[in-house]
Amino acid sequence: ARKPRVTVLGGGTWGTTVASIAARRTDTLLWARDPRIAEAVNRTHQNPRYLAGFDLAQGLRATTDLVGAVERADVLIAGVPAQYLRAVLERSVDHVRPFIPIVSLVKGLEQGSRKRMTEVIGEVLPGNPAGVLSGPNIAREVVQGYSAAATLAMPDHHSAQMLQGVVNTSRYRVYTSEDVVGVEIAGALKNVFALAVGFGDGLGAGDNTRAMVITRSLHELTRLGVALGGRAETFAGLAGMGDLLVTCISPHSRNRYVGFELGRGRPLEEILASMNQVAEGVRTTAAVMKLAAERGIDMPIAREVDAVLNHRQPVEKTYRGLLRATPGH
Ligand code: 13P
Repeated sequence: ARKPRVTVLGGGTWGTTVASIAARRTDTLLWARDPRIAEAVNRTHQNPRYLAGFDLAQGLRATTDLVGAVERADVLIAGVPAQYLRAVLERSVDHVRPFIPIVSLVKGLEQGSRKRMTEVIGEVLPGNPAGVLSGPNIAREVVQGYSAAATLAMPDHHSAQMLQGVVNTSRYRVYTSEDVVGVEIAGALKNVFALAVGFGDGLGAGDNTRAMVITRSLHELTRLGVALGGRAETFAGLAGMGDLLVTCISPHSRNRYVGFELGRGRPLEEILASMNQVAEGVRTTAAVMKLAAERGIDMPIAREVDAVLNHRQPVEKTYRGLLRATPGH
């Protein structure tokens, strides 16, 4: 059989990286909104805006033509920020071929609707199987070829196998799972907790505090994730514990960075205005709080993050709150 033609939507750090992996296996096209990115990928095999200095697969091509990119695809991989995915899909809807699988790389919830990305995909394109690829995957490390792994959750075995054939390599190992909800919730939630760890780091807290917050965060994340239909094992795996850990400790994490700068006393608006990327946790936190309230789940760490981001609570107060909210120590 012919190898599937892949289209990746989104020329950010992770969309570009996954497109570069897929381009080594099969015909892959990257859709980027910014013509300078598309042109640079085609001409120099680099993405100077998001992955400056790193070489991408020679065979990767890029375009700004969304309709053309979508209508050729045997599989669509979506790497646009959570708050924009619905709009990009709506522009594509008449051009996506029936039944082709759609995979989300996005680690966030839609703010107003509180929906997961596969739910958004399901609403816009109800006839296409929708799944998620997620794990501890700092893009610049993957693009350099350092070992990493991730979990791929698809609703059916056929599309899982097809996708694995496209993105699994000896250095980027893709394990399959059937828990779409759990993998997706884990990816969205870990960003909220990386902000909390960043607060502590910015305030000068130590490794004990960091380990405490990460450990308690895993409990919170698992409680809400299970209540929303995810499996407990998923949260202990690569997409859960693994991604929580890397996002809370990596100097390259955007979410941890926003938390860190808040911890150092910079105002949120200024931090966000100075970044050329999206820290998904900033918008996802309010949605998480509403989901937790609906399910009657207490999330003391997420609540403190929400207070800082959305209710102007000073970070110092939050950190006292975090400590108070962690009994038994
Ligand atoms: P950030 O979005 O915080 O950079 O997290 C990266 C990530 O998801 C690593 O798996």
